[in-house]
Amino acid sequence: MKVLLATSKPFAYQAVQGIQNIIESAGHQFMKLEKYEGESQLLDAVKDVDALIIRSDMIGKEIMKAAPNLKVIVRAGAGYDNVDLDAATDCGICVMNTPGQNANAVAELVFGMMIYVQRNQFDGSVGRELSGRRLGLYAFGNVAKMVAKIARGFDMPVYAYSPTLTHDDLRKEGEYGVITAYTNKELFRNSDFISLHMPLLEETRYCVNYSLLSLMPQDGFLINTARKELVVEDDLIRIMEERPAFQYAADVKPDKHEEFLQKFPKRYFATSKKLGAQTTDANKNAGLAAANQIVAFFRNGDERFKVNQ
Ligand code: 3PG
Repeated sequence: MKVLLATSKPFAYQAVQGIQNIIESAGHQFMKLEKYEGESQLLDAVKDVDALIIRSDMIGKEIMKAAPNLKVIVRAGAGYDNVDLDAATDCGICVMNTPGQNANAVAELVFGMMIYVQRNQFDGSVGRELSGRRLGLYAFGNVAKMVAKIARGFDMPVYAYSPTLTHDDLRKEGEYGVITAYTNKELFRNSDFISLHMPLLEETRYCVNYSLLSLMPQDGFLINTARKELVVEDDLIRIMEERPAFQYAADVKPDKHEEFLQKFPKRYFATSKKLGAQTTDANKNAGLAAANQIVAFFRNGDERFKVNQ
């Protein structure tokens, strides 16, 4: 089988080597397309592939139609909002993700950004500490759980709200020393900082709006390492205009990045490129898991991490 690693944002060299070893040791052919620009290069590269490993690369119907042999796509990472799942189902393609594999990397970045912004972007002026500040986790998946674990070391009380709260979540929240918020309003009302950890779905798109943000304290702090589309940017700008101490840190640059930067230079920070999962460790975890999942899929039809119907 031909397996293509297609990443416009390449994995670390060690991860690529590991992926290649796993694929070739199982008797498959390994191909790669890195740092490609525009869809045309990808359209060309997928022509005769059986399997695809991707990151945040956009995979729509056109790409699938251009790859008549394609049987499986593995998104080496957590979020799969970049893959058209309905089109994949129509084309008989199995789509999988690698849940949890890059969670620690993203969780560490949450704290890196919190400290950076609380210390005024290291400009030498008087900043603030994390200790004692109440941290609210919007959703309680793999990344949020790692954030909760690290937050204990910072002595931050942690609240968590899960839009699909289950008994298992509640048990785990207890395990992680987290206080359950039963509604998103309760979460925003009880938190100094809010960190977003939900996937981008129709139900979560633009869910962080003015009415929720206004429940936070005047010096509230929103941290977004999830997806930019979760936040109503105009509402956040309005809150930051009304509240001179409100802060925003994003690993997913908002569409209105320039406006945020110009209006709130010291209270707003965005990474240049989504880098939450961009560590050698996370690249190896997610990339090798993706390669192993592809080998298992072809070996015995293993679809354990399938996310489409
Ligand atoms: C994810 O959903 O796993 C993260 O957003 C990481 O995305 P990336 O692989 O594009 O860095």
